[in-house]
Amino acid sequence: MPSMAQGKLKSSVLNSKPNPKSPVASRFRQKIAEHRKSLPIASVEKRLIEEVHKNDILIIVGETGSGKTTQLPQFLFNAGFCREGKMVGISQPRRIAAVTVAKRVAEECDVQLGQRVGYSIRFDDTTSSSTRLKYMTDGFLLREALLDPLLSRYSVIIVDEAHERTVHTDVLLALLKKVQRARSKAVNERSENGDVLRGCQGRKVSPLKLIIMSASLNARVFSEYYGGAKALHVQGRQFPVDIYYTVHPESDYVDAALVTIFQIHLEEKPGDILVFLTGQDEIESVERLVQERLQHLPEDKRKLLPLTIFSTLPSEQQMRVFAPAPIGFRKVVLATNIAETSITIPGIRYVVDPGLVKARTYFPNKGMETLDVIPASKAQALQRSGRAGREGPGKCYRLYPEREFEKLEDSTKPEIKRCNLSNVILQLKALGIDDIVGFDFIDKPSRGAIVKALEELSLLGALTDDGKLEKPAGDQMARLPLDPVYSRALILANQFNCLEEMLITVAMLTVESIFYDPREKREEARTSKNHFASVEGDHLTYLSVYRESNEFLEKRKTENSEAKVDKIMGKWCKDNFVNSRSLKHARDTYRQIRGNVEQMGFNVSSCGNDMLEFRRCLAASFFLKAAQRQMDGTYRALESGETVLIHPTSVLFRSKPECVIFNELMQTSEKYIKNLTRIDPLWLAELAPHHYKTEE
Ligand code: CDP
Ligand code: MG
Repeated sequence: MPSMAQGKLKSSVLNSKPNPKSPVASRFRQKIAEHRKSLPIASVEKRLIEEVHKNDILIIVGETGSGKTTQLPQFLFNAGFCREGKMVGISQPRRIAAVTVAKRVAEECDVQLGQRVGYSIRFDDTTSSSTRLKYMTDGFLLREALLDPLLSRYSVIIVDEAHERTVHTDVLLALLKKVQRARSKAVNERSENGDVLRGCQGRKVSPLKLIIMSASLNARVFSEYYGGAKALHVQGRQFPVDIYYTVHPESDYVDAALVTIFQIHLEEKPGDILVFLTGQDEIESVERLVQERLQHLPEDKRKLLPLTIFSTLPSEQQMRVFAPAPIGFRKVVLATNIAETSITIPGIRYVVDPGLVKARTYFPNKGMETLDVIPASKAQALQRSGRAGREGPGKCYRLYPEREFEKLEDSTKPEIKRCNLSNVILQLKALGIDDIVGFDFIDKPSRGAIVKALEELSLLGALTDDGKLEKPAGDQMARLPLDPVYSRALILANQFNCLEEMLITVAMLTVESIFYDPREKREEARTSKNHFASVEGDHLTYLSVYRESNEFLEKRKTENSEAKVDKIMGKWCKDNFVNSRSLKHARDTYRQIRGNVEQMGFNVSSCGNDMLEFRRCLAASFFLKAAQRQMDGTYRALESGETVLIHPTSVLFRSKPECVIFNELMQTSEKYIKNLTRIDPLWLAELAPHHYKTEE
């Protein structure tokens, strides 16, 4: 098989498009064609298409990297499934997979991204009216169903990575079952009385083909769910992988990972390294530590190139991991569990697996979420080690003792059983599905979680007392691509005349950490943060970071080219200890949601410097999450009665005001509240009387 890591050629082509007629381009095309032909799925193209014709629902299970995600949609296109303007939709749990795969497929088809092949994810849509193969997130497809309930533009929908069992995948699996039935029914009725039934924008309705794809071998659950649907297995190619365990448990897995990375780099044969870490902060800190330790090596041993991949990485940087390392260099890819099955990085020979994942669990009765680093499941450990054996024999270093492996759970619990359901329930209600308890989920969420979400939605004014969608607020909230509380905050801000401020705040709250806080420069970082800090709390602090960066940017924009502005902005962020990736993400988000609310007819007004009004609006929006200081300096979360502490990253950590609203209640080592604003306790009864009237 032609290894993708073979030459310089591909890397130069990936980074800059050659003249399409040049010999380089034609060689590139030839390479791509060879690569496509060599994939395991290529030999079964004809069979797959036959089965799609024969079956309305098909389950396809295949080894990661066998070509399911990149090839099957192209097969369908070639087989005529996109005639008459129809599309093939491919939904993915992860944004980054949708983006990188769409880019790759556009390249394989030799078309510009956004033409025949495109992607749509929240806050970033590249598709056009010519798009026929549309990669998107599960969440995006769900939202699309709000506008076009029969999903009439699609001839085929592929639900990819179904084994991940994210809450959106589960909802989609159920919804698509309904859509498929409705479309078949429409078609049958039409043929009986000769009419043509039309869906959204007058499109002719035809039957829908459904394909569920999964990497794990357990196809039975999907097959049973769809009444015994046919399952096909695509044979993969897997070379042997030697597994190594540590003798003792590692107390500091980050350090153990670093030691292992350098051991491989200095002692093992060429081949890239893939390291599974738990999140952005950890990945960025390991990236820095690798760079630092490299400086202590002799010049000729420094040819190790750290690259990162995690969900919030800006899209222009995502593709870097796929390009081969420069000649003589070894790549070390620091990834979250995104590299387990959703994306395949060529060239990997060594896997370093600390055996951990960051997992959110929601406790409906406490209104609390925990974010813990917990052991990965056996299925995950196997997927991870498998990544080392795609192109030749490989090695996997599990940073825990062998006896621990046997104790791992077989597979991860579906997300629907451990998350806050208010978002999906609102979506279902907006789709006209009222009976949530009776809804045909593949795994039913607990009754308690459903009841809690319904209660929350009615307190937020999205549902009426008898559980129907409140018009227009509920509809508006369902359409905004945000958590219901944040959508509600925007609707309220419109009434409080501080929509501009709330848009910025919500955009800043969608990113993980806006401040950059390197261990070695703690003091400097703190001083810098103090410069932005507001005595009123974190929301106003974020507002001031955003505004200051904006002012800085606007001034430079008129004088400099775009590339230069990016660079200057990067420096501003560095000087101010602001995470430039996060800030950029927040800016993009702001632009998008501003577009959304303007489309809904809102006029974006600002309260200027009237921060009192803005804080009142924050209190009215986040009244469900208020906390009051107690005698001993801890806080009581009013809704759940939990005793909580202000998180040390909050600007209110030291001043400890009497009463605050917050956005997050998280249990890590302690129960912490994050993202706070100081409020007057009397505002709660005034602004949320339906909730606080009878309480103190
Ligand atoms: O979906 P599945 O895991 O079966 O495979 P895929 O994502 O379709 O990937 C097929 C092949 O394309 C793998 O060998 C990847 O290494 C390669 N690929 C790539 O080189 N660059 C990308 N951006 C995506 C995939
Ligand atoms: Mg795939």
